[in-house]
Parts: sequence; C-alpha cells; structure tokens
Amino acid sequence: MACLPEGVRIRPARDCEGPACRMLLPDLIREALPAEFLVAVQQAPPHLIGAACFRYGGAVLYSVRLRVIRTHRRRGIGSALMSAVLAEARSRGCDTVVALVETDREPEAEPFLLRYGFRRGSRLTTVEAAAEPARAWFGALRRRLEDAGKIPETARVLSFAEAPKAEVARLYAEAILCSPELEPGRLQHVLERLASPQSPVAMEGDRVVGALLWSLEGSLAFVHARVVAEERRRGWVNVVLMADALEAGWRAGGRRLRFEIPDGNRDTEKLASRLNAQPVRRLDRYVLELRGRSP
Ligand SMILES: CC(C)(COP(=O)(O)OP(=O)(O)OC[C@H]1O[C@@H](n2cnc3c(N)ncnc32)[C@H](O)[C@@H]1OP(=O)(O)O)[C@@H](O)C(=O)NCCC(=O)NCCS
Repeated sequence: MACLPEGVRIRPARDCEGPACRMLLPDLIREALPAEFLVAVQQAPPHLIGAACFRYGGAVLYSVRLRVIRTHRRRGIGSALMSAVLAEARSRGCDTVVALVETDREPEAEPFLLRYGFRRGSRLTTVEAAAEPARAWFGALRRRLEDAGKIPETARVLSFAEAPKAEVARLYAEAILCSPELEPGRLQHVLERLASPQSPVAMEGDRVVGALLWSLEGSLAFVHARVVAEERRRGWVNVVLMADALEAGWRAGGRRLRFEIPDGNRDTEKLASRLNAQPVRRLDRYVLELRGRSP
C-alpha cells in the first residue's frame, strides 16, 4: 500500500467541518446515534481530501464509511483513514467493525475493504412504493382483525408524543440496534429528533408492545423503524401500527413510502412485493472481527 503523502494528516473533524463531512459522506441509514468523523487534511487546497465516519455501539464500531476525493485516490489516504478508524475501535474496546457500502455506486469499496480483511455480510435494500395501495391494504386488514375480535381489550395506540418514550427506546435498542445495553435516555432524545410525534406506539395496558417510527420529507414518508415485541409478532400489533401510520402519513401529505428490507426478512420481502415496491438503494455490510488480529 502507498505511504501517506507528505503533509497529509488524519485527525478528528472539528465542529465547523461537520457540514463538509456530511456532504462527503451523507448519512445512509438515518440511525438514531450520531456519527463521529475523522478527516484527512492537507495544507494546500483542497484542504479536506477525505473523511471517515463511524458510530460507536459498545462492542461494535458500526456504520463505518470512508471517502477520498476522486483526484486523491490510490495514494494511501483511504488506508490511513481506515487505520485511524481501526485504532479508534481498538482504543474503545470494540471487537467488531462494520462498514457500509452503497453497492451500486461504490465499486472501489469491495477490493479496498477485502484488503483489510473485511468479509461481506448482509444486505439492506431500501424500497419505495405508492402509499395509497398500502393504506387501503392495511386499513382493510385492521378492520378484519377488529371484526374478528383479534385485537385485545387492553390494546391501544398512543402517539409517540404521548407514549412512554424510554420504553420505546428500550425496545428499539433491543430489536433494531441489538444493543440492549444502550442507555434509553440518550436514545430517546435521538428518537425524538428522528421520528414524527404522530408515530404510533402500540400498548397493551401500560406495556409498550410495538412502535413504528416514521417521518415525512415533502410527500415521501420514511419508515425508520418498525418494531414489535418478540412475543407479539404475527399478531395484531404490526397491522395496527402500519394502518395507523399510513393513515396519519396520508393525512400529513405522504404519497410515497420508503422502507428497508433486511436480507432474508421474508415478511418485509412479501410486503414489498405485495405493494410493488421498487428498490432505490442497496447497502451491503462488510464485517471485520478484530479479536486475534494484530494492529
Ligand atoms: C475506497 C476508497 C476510500 C479508497 O481510498 P484510497 O485513498 O484510494 O485507498 P488507498 O490508496 O489507501 O488504497 C489501498 C488499497 O485498497 C485497494 N484499492 C483501493 N481502490 C481500489 C480500486 N479502485 N480497485 C482495486 N483495489 C483498490 C488496493 O489494494 C489499494 O492498494 P494499492 O493502491 O497499493 O494497490 C476510495 O476509492 C473512495 O473514496 N471510494 C468511494 C467511496 C467508497 O467506496 N468508500 C468505501 C466504503 S467504506
């Protein structure tokens, strides 16, 4: 690998460099936890020639992404950024690093990451569909469940604004981030910024059994998270959450719907095919196990 060119330095991004970093590395996953940035800088213009971002989640450094400006590639800058990311991971005691690649747009990524010992992991496909057929479908399903008495007496739906948010954050940490150790207070704060206050939260008595966090940008509704407590899956919760969110989203002007399909998630795949949803982006995860690997 090439040595780092003279005069190039890798360091944490300063606050004022945040917007430039986000332009270089737009957030691909709208995750709840804020990303941290490292930059590759040089004295001569252009000063910012590369950036890396990552999120810290206990044993895992995830959402790792790197970009070097086109004119400065194949000079070792990407390698230097990656070395700095891996040093961060080690210094925080992480044993796994997960990089994200937008497969269709980043053909250089795979050879670069394989060189570092990453292996290809699962794929997340973002799809988009018209909202109206989904609204009609879930509205009808909800009515059928109601008529068949399949929704328990103690069930109710609260808006995220009025729901016990720490409980929602706990469910999100467990089921979506697979990190039950995350502190719910901190996560709750981030979810409040991410999700519409109208997002539905399903309750049985005082217990949160599911939530669907969405937000609207223009007429495009983003489903950030659809989470149902494990023992309530395949029942009323998902249908009621979807019907409620689609109705509220529609009233707020949402006409198209974007959601993600994790690799092998048959339910979401079936939903996407029923709604004739079209792929708009494919994200691949590349995983590096640090344990037993020398720095
Ligand atoms: C991937 C990327 C960060 C690499 O940055 P870089 O500064 O060019 O990387 P380096 O010069 O340190 O390359 C290190 C090694 O990676 C491999 N590599 C990098 N780019 C490659 C390419 N286009 N084709 C094949 N191998 C490549 C080579 O083994 C290279 O070593 P070599 O130059 O001695 O052969 C850069 O191409 C980029 O920004 N691409 C767009 C965004 C992206 O794909 N990000 C990765 C997602 S995490």
